[in-house]
Amino acid sequence: MQLVIDYLQKNQARFLAELCDYLRFPSVSAQPQHRADVHACAAWLLAHCRQIGLEARLCETAGHPVVVAKTPGVAPRQPRRPAKPHFMVYGHYDVQPPEPLELWQSPPFEPRIDGRIIYARGSTDNKGQNFAHLKAVEAYLKTGTPLPCDLTFVLEGEEEVGSKCLSDFLKQQRQELACDAVVISDTGMPTLKHPALTYSLRGIIAFEITLRGPTHDLHSGVFGGAVENPAMALARLLARIHNDKGHITIPGFYDGVRPLTKLERQQAARYPLKDAQLKRLLGPPMLFGEQGYSPTEQRSARPTFEINGLTSGYQGEGSKTIVPSWARAKITCRLVPNQDPAHVRKLVVAYLKKICPPTVRLEIEAGHGAEAYYVSPNGPLALASLRALNQAFGAEAILMREGGSIPIVNEFKKILGADSLLLGLGLPDDNAHAPNEKFHLECFEKGQRMSAFLWPELSR
Ligand code: BES
Ligand code: MN
Repeated sequence: MQLVIDYLQKNQARFLAELCDYLRFPSVSAQPQHRADVHACAAWLLAHCRQIGLEARLCETAGHPVVVAKTPGVAPRQPRRPAKPHFMVYGHYDVQPPEPLELWQSPPFEPRIDGRIIYARGSTDNKGQNFAHLKAVEAYLKTGTPLPCDLTFVLEGEEEVGSKCLSDFLKQQRQELACDAVVISDTGMPTLKHPALTYSLRGIIAFEITLRGPTHDLHSGVFGGAVENPAMALARLLARIHNDKGHITIPGFYDGVRPLTKLERQQAARYPLKDAQLKRLLGPPMLFGEQGYSPTEQRSARPTFEINGLTSGYQGEGSKTIVPSWARAKITCRLVPNQDPAHVRKLVVAYLKKICPPTVRLEIEAGHGAEAYYVSPNGPLALASLRALNQAFGAEAILMREGGSIPIVNEFKKILGADSLLLGLGLPDDNAHAPNEKFHLECFEKGQRMSAFLWPELSR
Protein backbone atom coordinates (compact mmCIF):
# COMPACT_ATOMS: atom_id res chain seq x y z
CA MET A 1 0.00 0.00 0.00
CA GLN A 2 2.84 2.40 0.77
CA LEU A 3 4.02 1.99 -2.83
CA VAL A 4 0.59 3.04 -4.04
CA ILE A 5 0.47 6.09 -1.77
CA ASP A 6 4.02 7.11 -2.76
CA TYR A 7 3.16 6.72 -6.45
CA LEU A 8 0.16 9.00 -6.01
CA GLN A 9 2.24 11.60 -4.20
CA LYS A 10 5.01 11.58 -6.81
CA ASN A 11 2.74 11.94 -9.82
CA GLN A 12 0.38 14.76 -8.84
CA ALA A 13 1.77 17.24 -11.37
CA ARG A 14 1.19 14.83 -14.25
CA PHE A 15 -2.28 13.87 -12.93
CA LEU A 16 -3.26 17.52 -12.92
CA ALA A 17 -2.06 18.03 -16.49
CA GLU A 18 -4.07 14.96 -17.55
CA LEU A 19 -7.15 16.21 -15.73
CA CYS A 20 -6.80 19.46 -17.70
CA ASP A 21 -6.78 17.45 -20.94
CA TYR A 22 -9.95 15.67 -19.82
CA LEU A 23 -11.61 18.98 -18.95
CA ARG A 24 -10.84 20.58 -22.31
CA PHE A 25 -13.51 18.47 -24.04
CA PRO A 26 -16.81 20.37 -24.16
CA SER A 27 -18.73 17.14 -23.57
CA VAL A 28 -22.12 18.80 -23.12
CA SER A 29 -24.63 15.97 -23.45
CA ALA A 30 -27.71 18.21 -23.67
CA GLN A 31 -26.61 20.17 -26.75
CA PRO A 32 -26.72 18.43 -30.14
CA GLN A 33 -23.94 20.66 -31.51
CA HIS A 34 -21.57 19.02 -29.01
CA ARG A 35 -22.23 15.44 -30.11
CA ALA A 36 -18.79 15.08 -31.69
CA ASP A 37 -17.14 16.58 -28.60
CA VAL A 38 -18.91 14.08 -26.37
CA HIS A 39 -17.61 11.29 -28.61
CA ALA A 40 -14.09 12.71 -28.65
CA CYS A 41 -14.11 12.87 -24.86
CA ALA A 42 -15.18 9.21 -24.67
CA ALA A 43 -12.40 8.26 -27.11
CA TRP A 44 -9.83 10.14 -25.01
CA LEU A 45 -11.08 8.40 -21.86
CA LEU A 46 -10.88 5.02 -23.56
CA ALA A 47 -7.27 5.63 -24.60
CA HIS A 48 -6.44 6.89 -21.12
CA CYS A 49 -7.90 3.81 -19.43
CA ARG A 50 -5.78 1.61 -21.70
CA GLN A 51 -2.69 3.67 -21.02
CA ILE A 52 -2.99 3.16 -17.27
CA GLY A 53 -3.32 -0.60 -17.72
CA LEU A 54 -7.08 -1.22 -17.79
CA GLU A 55 -8.79 -3.39 -20.39
CA ALA A 56 -11.18 -0.90 -21.90
CA ARG A 57 -13.78 -0.74 -24.62
CA LEU A 58 -16.15 1.84 -26.02
CA CYS A 59 -19.78 0.78 -26.07
CA GLU A 60 -22.02 2.65 -28.45
CA THR A 61 -25.62 3.17 -27.35
CA ALA A 62 -28.58 4.87 -28.97
CA GLY A 63 -27.26 8.01 -27.30
CA HIS A 64 -23.73 8.82 -26.13
CA PRO A 65 -21.18 6.01 -25.67
CA VAL A 66 -20.27 4.26 -22.44
CA VAL A 67 -16.63 3.56 -21.58
CA VAL A 68 -16.18 0.23 -19.79
CA ALA A 69 -12.75 -0.45 -18.32
CA LYS A 70 -11.68 -3.43 -16.23
CA THR A 71 -8.69 -4.37 -14.19
CA PRO A 72 -6.83 -7.05 -16.16
CA GLY A 73 -8.05 -10.62 -15.98
CA VAL A 74 -11.61 -10.10 -14.74
CA ALA A 75 -13.53 -13.23 -15.69
CA PRO A 76 -17.32 -13.28 -15.83
CA ARG A 77 -18.72 -14.59 -12.56
CA GLN A 78 -19.53 -18.23 -12.51
CA PRO A 79 -21.78 -20.01 -10.09
CA ARG A 80 -19.95 -22.22 -7.58
CA ARG A 81 -16.57 -20.72 -8.38
CA PRO A 82 -15.43 -18.48 -5.56
CA ALA A 83 -14.24 -15.24 -7.06
CA LYS A 84 -12.60 -12.13 -5.80
CA PRO A 85 -15.05 -9.42 -4.85
CA HIS A 86 -16.03 -7.30 -7.83
CA PHE A 87 -16.81 -3.59 -7.53
CA MET A 88 -18.01 -1.18 -10.15
CA VAL A 89 -16.86 2.42 -10.22
CA TYR A 90 -19.47 4.57 -11.90
CA GLY A 91 -18.99 8.11 -13.14
CA HIS A 92 -19.96 10.40 -16.00
CA TYR A 93 -17.85 12.30 -18.50
CA ASP A 94 -20.68 14.47 -19.80
CA VAL A 95 -21.19 17.94 -18.39
CA GLN A 96 -23.94 20.54 -18.05
CA PRO A 97 -24.18 23.37 -20.58
CA PRO A 98 -21.72 26.16 -19.64
CA GLU A 99 -24.11 29.07 -20.29
CA PRO A 100 -24.27 31.93 -19.33
CA LEU A 101 -20.72 32.30 -20.67
CA GLU A 102 -20.30 35.96 -19.74
CA LEU A 103 -20.33 35.07 -16.04
CA TRP A 104 -17.23 32.86 -16.28
CA GLN A 105 -13.97 34.45 -15.18
CA SER A 106 -12.11 32.21 -17.62
CA PRO A 107 -13.51 30.11 -20.48
CA PRO A 108 -15.31 26.99 -19.19
CA PHE A 109 -13.31 24.56 -21.33
CA GLU A 110 -9.89 26.13 -20.77
CA PRO A 111 -9.01 24.82 -17.30
CA ARG A 112 -7.47 27.47 -15.05
CA ILE A 113 -5.51 26.66 -11.91
CA ASP A 114 -5.53 29.28 -9.19
CA GLY A 115 -3.63 28.18 -6.08
CA ARG A 116 -5.13 24.85 -5.05
CA ILE A 117 -8.30 25.18 -7.12
CA ILE A 118 -8.99 24.19 -10.71
CA TYR A 119 -11.75 26.00 -12.60
CA ALA A 120 -13.57 24.38 -15.54
CA ARG A 121 -16.99 23.03 -16.49
CA GLY A 122 -17.07 19.41 -15.33
CA SER A 123 -14.23 19.82 -12.83
CA THR A 124 -16.29 18.74 -9.82
CA ASP A 125 -19.29 17.31 -11.72
CA ASN A 126 -17.96 14.82 -12.54
CA LYS A 127 -14.64 14.53 -14.35
CA GLY A 128 -12.38 15.46 -11.42
CA GLN A 129 -14.14 13.01 -9.14
CA ASN A 130 -14.10 10.01 -11.45
CA PHE A 131 -10.53 10.79 -12.51
CA ALA A 132 -9.43 10.45 -8.86
CA HIS A 133 -10.56 6.80 -8.96
CA LEU A 134 -8.75 6.20 -12.24
CA LYS A 135 -5.53 7.60 -10.76
CA ALA A 136 -5.83 5.30 -7.72
CA VAL A 137 -6.19 2.19 -9.86
CA GLU A 138 -3.31 3.42 -12.03
CA ALA A 139 -1.18 3.52 -8.87
CA TYR A 140 -2.01 -0.12 -8.10
CA LEU A 141 -1.38 -1.27 -11.66
CA LYS A 142 1.82 0.71 -12.26
CA THR A 143 3.43 -0.30 -8.95
CA GLY A 144 2.49 -3.95 -9.41
CA THR A 145 0.50 -3.88 -6.17
CA PRO A 146 -2.08 -6.67 -6.26
CA LEU A 147 -5.68 -5.52 -5.92
CA PRO A 148 -7.80 -7.55 -3.51
CA CYS A 149 -10.79 -7.25 -5.84
CA ASP A 150 -11.78 -6.91 -9.47
CA LEU A 151 -12.84 -3.48 -10.67
CA THR A 152 -14.98 -2.38 -13.59
CA PHE A 153 -15.26 1.30 -14.44
CA VAL A 154 -18.48 2.37 -16.14
CA LEU A 155 -18.18 5.95 -17.36
CA GLU A 156 -21.22 7.24 -19.18
CA GLY A 157 -22.01 10.28 -21.30
CA GLU A 158 -25.66 10.94 -20.51
CA GLU A 159 -25.95 11.43 -16.77
CA GLU A 160 -26.79 15.10 -17.07
CA VAL A 161 -29.71 14.31 -19.35
CA GLY A 162 -31.20 11.48 -17.31
CA SER A 163 -29.08 8.40 -18.26
CA LYS A 164 -31.67 7.34 -20.84
CA CYS A 165 -29.61 4.60 -22.51
CA LEU A 166 -27.70 3.28 -19.56
CA SER A 167 -30.40 1.07 -18.08
CA ASP A 168 -30.78 -0.91 -21.34
CA PHE A 169 -27.02 -1.18 -21.37
CA LEU A 170 -27.04 -2.60 -17.84
CA LYS A 171 -29.67 -5.14 -18.84
CA GLN A 172 -27.60 -6.28 -21.82
CA GLN A 173 -24.42 -6.51 -19.75
CA ARG A 174 -26.06 -7.84 -16.61
CA GLN A 175 -23.72 -10.81 -16.29
CA GLU A 176 -20.53 -8.93 -16.93
CA LEU A 177 -21.43 -6.06 -14.65
CA ALA A 178 -22.68 -8.20 -11.75
CA CYS A 179 -20.89 -6.82 -8.73
CA ASP A 180 -20.89 -6.57 -4.94
CA ALA A 181 -21.41 -2.81 -4.89
CA VAL A 182 -21.07 0.31 -7.01
CA VAL A 183 -18.72 3.06 -5.86
CA ILE A 184 -19.70 6.57 -6.97
CA SER A 185 -18.00 9.88 -6.32
CA ASP A 186 -20.57 12.27 -7.77
CA THR A 187 -21.93 13.95 -4.66
CA GLY A 188 -20.49 16.31 -2.08
CA MET A 189 -18.94 16.69 1.33
CA PRO A 190 -19.71 19.64 3.60
CA THR A 191 -16.14 20.91 4.12
CA LEU A 192 -12.57 19.76 3.50
CA LYS A 193 -12.50 18.56 7.11
CA HIS A 194 -15.70 16.54 6.80
CA PRO A 195 -15.52 13.65 4.36
CA ALA A 196 -18.95 12.10 3.96
CA LEU A 197 -20.85 8.99 3.04
CA THR A 198 -24.18 9.91 1.44
CA TYR A 199 -26.90 7.35 2.11
CA SER A 200 -29.83 8.97 0.34
CA LEU A 201 -30.45 10.96 -2.83
CA ARG A 202 -33.60 12.64 -4.02
CA GLY A 203 -35.46 11.45 -7.09
CA ILE A 204 -36.82 13.72 -9.78
CA ILE A 205 -39.52 14.34 -12.35
CA ALA A 206 -39.02 16.88 -15.10
CA PHE A 207 -41.61 18.46 -17.39
CA GLU A 208 -42.47 21.57 -19.36
CA ILE A 209 -45.70 23.50 -19.10
CA THR A 210 -46.79 25.63 -22.05
CA LEU A 211 -49.81 27.90 -22.03
CA ARG A 212 -51.02 29.10 -25.42
CA GLY A 213 -53.38 32.01 -25.91
CA PRO A 214 -53.70 34.01 -29.14
CA THR A 215 -52.28 32.36 -32.27
CA HIS A 216 -49.63 35.11 -32.51
CA ASP A 217 -48.19 37.96 -30.42
CA LEU A 218 -50.69 40.84 -30.30
CA HIS A 219 -50.42 44.60 -30.08
CA SER A 220 -51.05 45.09 -26.37
CA GLY A 221 -52.65 48.47 -26.93
CA VAL A 222 -55.04 47.32 -29.60
CA PHE A 223 -56.03 43.95 -28.10
CA GLY A 224 -54.68 43.92 -24.53
CA GLY A 225 -57.48 43.68 -21.99
CA ALA A 226 -59.78 41.55 -24.07
CA VAL A 227 -57.67 38.43 -24.21
CA GLU A 228 -55.91 36.37 -21.53
CA ASN A 229 -52.21 37.08 -21.28
CA PRO A 230 -50.56 33.61 -21.21
CA ALA A 231 -47.67 34.91 -19.10
CA MET A 232 -50.08 36.23 -16.45
CA ALA A 233 -52.07 32.99 -16.56
CA LEU A 234 -48.88 30.97 -16.06
CA ALA A 235 -47.82 33.22 -13.18
CA ARG A 236 -51.19 32.65 -11.48
CA LEU A 237 -51.01 28.90 -12.08
CA LEU A 238 -47.52 28.58 -10.64
CA ALA A 239 -48.36 30.84 -7.71
CA ARG A 240 -50.92 28.27 -6.58
CA ILE A 241 -48.42 25.43 -6.21
CA HIS A 242 -47.16 26.49 -2.76
CA ASN A 243 -48.96 27.96 0.22
CA ASP A 244 -47.33 30.62 2.36
CA LYS A 245 -45.83 27.94 4.62
CA GLY A 246 -43.85 26.56 1.69
CA HIS A 247 -45.96 23.39 1.51
CA ILE A 248 -46.89 22.08 -1.92
CA THR A 249 -50.66 22.20 -2.34
CA ILE A 250 -51.04 19.59 -5.09
CA PRO A 251 -53.43 17.00 -3.60
CA GLY A 252 -51.62 13.77 -2.79
CA PHE A 253 -48.16 15.20 -3.50
CA TYR A 254 -46.80 14.02 -0.14
CA ASP A 255 -48.43 10.55 -0.42
CA GLY A 256 -46.07 7.95 0.95
CA VAL A 257 -43.32 10.40 1.93
CA ARG A 258 -41.29 8.63 4.57
CA PRO A 259 -40.97 10.85 7.65
CA LEU A 260 -37.49 11.61 8.90
CA THR A 261 -36.44 9.46 11.83
CA LYS A 262 -35.22 11.00 15.07
CA LEU A 263 -31.70 9.84 14.23
CA GLU A 264 -31.85 11.46 10.79
CA ARG A 265 -33.00 14.73 12.28
CA GLN A 266 -30.12 14.57 14.75
CA GLN A 267 -27.69 13.89 11.91
CA ALA A 268 -29.11 16.80 9.90
CA ALA A 269 -28.73 19.08 12.93
CA ARG A 270 -25.06 18.12 13.17
CA TYR A 271 -24.40 18.92 9.50
CA PRO A 272 -21.34 21.20 9.64
CA LEU A 273 -22.49 23.85 7.16
CA LYS A 274 -24.74 26.04 9.33
CA ASP A 275 -27.69 28.09 8.12
CA ALA A 276 -25.88 31.41 8.33
CA GLN A 277 -22.99 30.04 6.25
CA LEU A 278 -25.44 28.60 3.75
CA LYS A 279 -27.14 31.98 3.41
CA ARG A 280 -23.77 33.68 2.88
CA LEU A 281 -22.76 31.05 0.33
CA LEU A 282 -25.95 31.36 -1.69
CA GLY A 283 -26.53 35.09 -1.33
CA PRO A 284 -30.31 35.54 -0.95
CA PRO A 285 -31.54 38.20 1.50
CA MET A 286 -33.06 35.41 3.57
CA LEU A 287 -33.39 31.62 3.42
CA PHE A 288 -36.82 30.22 2.63
CA GLY A 289 -38.33 26.76 2.75
CA GLU A 290 -41.04 24.47 3.96
CA GLN A 291 -42.03 25.29 7.52
CA GLY A 292 -41.19 22.71 10.15
CA TYR A 293 -37.91 21.63 8.56
CA SER A 294 -34.37 22.95 8.79
CA PRO A 295 -32.61 24.11 5.62
CA THR A 296 -30.47 20.95 5.68
CA GLU A 297 -33.64 18.85 5.78
CA GLN A 298 -35.43 21.01 3.22
CA ARG A 299 -32.70 20.56 0.65
CA SER A 300 -32.03 16.86 1.13
CA ALA A 301 -34.96 15.05 2.67
CA ARG A 302 -38.09 16.94 1.55
CA PRO A 303 -39.70 17.02 -1.88
CA THR A 304 -39.83 20.21 -3.93
CA PHE A 305 -41.49 21.82 -6.95
CA GLU A 306 -39.08 24.16 -8.75
CA ILE A 307 -39.26 26.43 -11.77
CA ASN A 308 -35.97 25.96 -13.66
CA GLY A 309 -36.80 28.31 -16.50
CA LEU A 310 -39.60 30.71 -17.27
CA THR A 311 -40.06 32.15 -20.75
CA SER A 312 -42.60 34.32 -22.48
CA GLY A 313 -42.81 37.36 -24.69
CA TYR A 314 -40.08 39.79 -25.53
CA GLN A 315 -36.68 39.14 -23.88
CA GLY A 316 -34.49 41.61 -25.75
CA GLU A 317 -33.34 45.09 -24.87
CA GLY A 318 -35.76 47.95 -24.44
CA SER A 319 -39.52 47.62 -24.48
CA LYS A 320 -42.02 46.03 -26.80
CA THR A 321 -45.75 46.32 -26.33
CA ILE A 322 -47.28 42.90 -26.87
CA VAL A 323 -49.55 40.27 -25.43
CA PRO A 324 -47.38 37.19 -25.96
CA SER A 325 -48.87 34.24 -27.75
CA TRP A 326 -47.50 31.71 -25.27
CA ALA A 327 -45.69 31.21 -21.97
CA ARG A 328 -43.58 28.29 -20.82
CA ALA A 329 -42.09 26.97 -17.59
CA LYS A 330 -39.49 24.23 -17.24
CA ILE A 331 -40.25 22.42 -14.00
CA THR A 332 -38.61 19.76 -11.86
CA CYS A 333 -39.87 18.19 -8.70
CA ARG A 334 -37.35 16.54 -6.39
CA LEU A 335 -38.73 13.43 -4.76
CA VAL A 336 -37.85 11.58 -1.59
CA PRO A 337 -37.93 7.90 -0.63
CA ASN A 338 -41.31 6.16 -1.14
CA GLN A 339 -42.68 8.74 -3.58
CA ASP A 340 -43.45 7.10 -6.91
CA PRO A 341 -42.35 9.34 -9.81
CA ALA A 342 -45.12 8.15 -12.17
CA HIS A 343 -47.77 8.70 -9.50
CA VAL A 344 -46.51 12.18 -8.61
CA ARG A 345 -46.39 13.08 -12.30
CA LYS A 346 -50.06 12.09 -12.66
CA LEU A 347 -51.05 14.16 -9.63
CA VAL A 348 -49.20 17.22 -10.91
CA VAL A 349 -50.74 16.96 -14.37
CA ALA A 350 -54.24 16.45 -12.95
CA TYR A 351 -53.90 19.47 -10.66
CA LEU A 352 -52.56 21.75 -13.39
CA LYS A 353 -55.41 20.71 -15.69
CA LYS A 354 -57.90 21.37 -12.93
CA ILE A 355 -56.69 24.88 -12.10
CA CYS A 356 -55.87 25.99 -15.64
CA PRO A 357 -58.36 28.66 -16.80
CA PRO A 358 -60.34 28.00 -20.02
CA THR A 359 -58.81 31.13 -21.58
CA VAL A 360 -55.54 29.36 -22.47
CA ARG A 361 -54.57 25.94 -23.83
CA LEU A 362 -52.41 23.85 -21.51
CA GLU A 363 -49.70 21.57 -22.90
CA ILE A 364 -47.54 19.44 -20.65
CA GLU A 365 -44.51 17.66 -22.01
CA ALA A 366 -43.03 14.97 -19.81
CA GLY A 367 -39.26 14.77 -19.31
CA HIS A 368 -37.09 12.32 -17.38
CA GLY A 369 -37.93 10.82 -14.03
CA ALA A 370 -36.25 8.80 -11.31
CA GLU A 371 -37.00 7.48 -7.86
CA ALA A 372 -35.17 8.65 -4.79
CA TYR A 373 -32.43 6.44 -3.37
CA TYR A 374 -31.82 5.15 0.10
CA VAL A 375 -29.24 2.65 1.32
CA SER A 376 -28.60 1.66 4.92
CA PRO A 377 -25.57 3.52 6.31
CA ASN A 378 -24.98 0.62 8.74
CA GLY A 379 -24.19 -2.17 6.28
CA PRO A 380 -20.70 -3.74 6.25
CA LEU A 381 -19.69 -2.06 2.97
CA ALA A 382 -20.91 1.34 4.17
CA LEU A 383 -18.84 0.91 7.33
CA ALA A 384 -15.83 -0.18 5.27
CA SER A 385 -16.09 2.92 3.10
CA LEU A 386 -16.27 5.12 6.21
CA ARG A 387 -12.94 3.60 7.30
CA ALA A 388 -11.40 4.41 3.93
CA LEU A 389 -12.67 8.00 4.15
CA ASN A 390 -11.26 8.39 7.67
CA GLN A 391 -7.85 7.12 6.59
CA ALA A 392 -7.66 9.23 3.47
CA PHE A 393 -8.81 12.50 5.02
CA GLY A 394 -7.43 12.00 8.52
CA ALA A 395 -10.83 13.10 9.83
CA GLU A 396 -14.01 11.43 11.03
CA ALA A 397 -16.42 10.90 8.11
CA ILE A 398 -20.04 11.92 8.55
CA LEU A 399 -23.28 10.42 7.24
CA MET A 400 -25.57 12.62 5.22
CA ARG A 401 -28.47 12.78 2.78
CA GLU A 402 -28.14 14.75 -0.42
CA GLY A 403 -30.73 16.55 -2.47
CA GLY A 404 -29.32 15.95 -5.95
CA SER A 405 -30.22 12.94 -8.08
CA ILE A 406 -28.25 10.20 -9.77
CA PRO A 407 -31.04 8.41 -11.61
CA ILE A 408 -29.04 5.31 -12.46
CA VAL A 409 -28.42 4.22 -8.85
CA ASN A 410 -31.90 2.71 -8.71
CA GLU A 411 -31.18 0.68 -11.82
CA PHE A 412 -27.95 -0.61 -10.28
CA LYS A 413 -30.07 -1.96 -7.45
CA LYS A 414 -32.91 -3.31 -9.63
CA ILE A 415 -30.88 -4.75 -12.49
CA LEU A 416 -27.60 -5.72 -10.83
CA GLY A 417 -28.80 -6.08 -7.23
CA ALA A 418 -25.96 -3.79 -6.16
CA ASP A 419 -26.04 -0.99 -3.60
CA SER A 420 -24.25 2.25 -4.37
CA LEU A 421 -21.67 3.73 -2.03
CA LEU A 422 -21.82 7.49 -2.54
CA LEU A 423 -18.45 8.94 -1.60
CA GLY A 424 -18.62 12.50 -2.83
CA LEU A 425 -15.62 14.78 -3.25
CA GLY A 426 -17.38 18.01 -4.20
CA LEU A 427 -17.62 21.04 -1.89
CA PRO A 428 -20.82 23.09 -1.45
CA ASP A 429 -19.26 26.12 -3.16
CA ASP A 430 -17.94 24.19 -6.18
CA ASN A 431 -20.55 25.83 -8.45
CA ALA A 432 -21.77 22.61 -10.03
CA HIS A 433 -24.11 23.40 -12.96
CA ALA A 434 -23.20 27.09 -12.60
CA PRO A 435 -20.57 29.50 -13.95
CA ASN A 436 -17.04 29.18 -12.52
CA GLU A 437 -17.41 25.52 -11.59
CA LYS A 438 -14.35 24.43 -9.65
CA PHE A 439 -12.71 21.49 -7.92
CA HIS A 440 -10.34 21.70 -4.98
CA LEU A 441 -7.03 19.88 -5.56
CA GLU A 442 -7.20 18.73 -1.94
CA CYS A 443 -10.40 16.87 -2.87
CA PHE A 444 -8.71 15.44 -5.95
CA GLU A 445 -5.70 14.19 -3.98
CA LYS A 446 -7.60 12.94 -0.94
CA GLY A 447 -10.07 11.33 -3.31
CA GLN A 448 -7.27 9.33 -4.91
CA ARG A 449 -6.13 8.18 -1.46
CA MET A 450 -9.68 7.31 -0.47
CA SER A 451 -10.02 5.17 -3.59
CA ALA A 452 -6.69 3.47 -2.85
CA PHE A 453 -7.74 2.64 0.75
CA LEU A 454 -11.22 1.65 -0.32
CA TRP A 455 -10.42 -1.58 -2.16
CA PRO A 456 -8.72 -3.39 0.74
CA GLU A 457 -11.38 -2.13 3.16
CA LEU A 458 -14.28 -3.24 0.95
CA SER A 459 -12.65 -6.60 0.26
CA ARG A 460 -11.96 -7.49 3.89
N1 BES B 1 -23.57 14.96 -9.41
C1 BES B 1 -24.91 15.32 -9.62
C2 BES B 1 -25.86 14.77 -8.58
C3 BES B 1 -25.65 15.25 -7.18
C4 BES B 1 -25.03 16.45 -6.91
C5 BES B 1 -26.09 14.49 -6.16
C6 BES B 1 -24.85 16.86 -5.61
C7 BES B 1 -25.95 14.91 -4.87
C8 BES B 1 -25.32 16.09 -4.59
C9 BES B 1 -25.36 14.83 -10.97
O1 BES B 1 -24.41 15.03 -11.97
C10 BES B 1 -26.55 15.63 -11.38
O2 BES B 1 -26.46 16.81 -11.50
N2 BES B 1 -27.68 14.98 -11.59
C11 BES B 1 -28.84 15.60 -12.10
C12 BES B 1 -29.75 14.52 -12.59
C13 BES B 1 -30.84 14.96 -13.48
C14 BES B 1 -30.34 15.68 -14.69
C15 BES B 1 -31.68 13.78 -13.89
C16 BES B 1 -29.52 16.43 -11.04
O3 BES B 1 -29.52 16.08 -9.85
O4 BES B 1 -30.05 17.49 -11.39
MN1 MN C 1 -24.60 17.24 -12.52
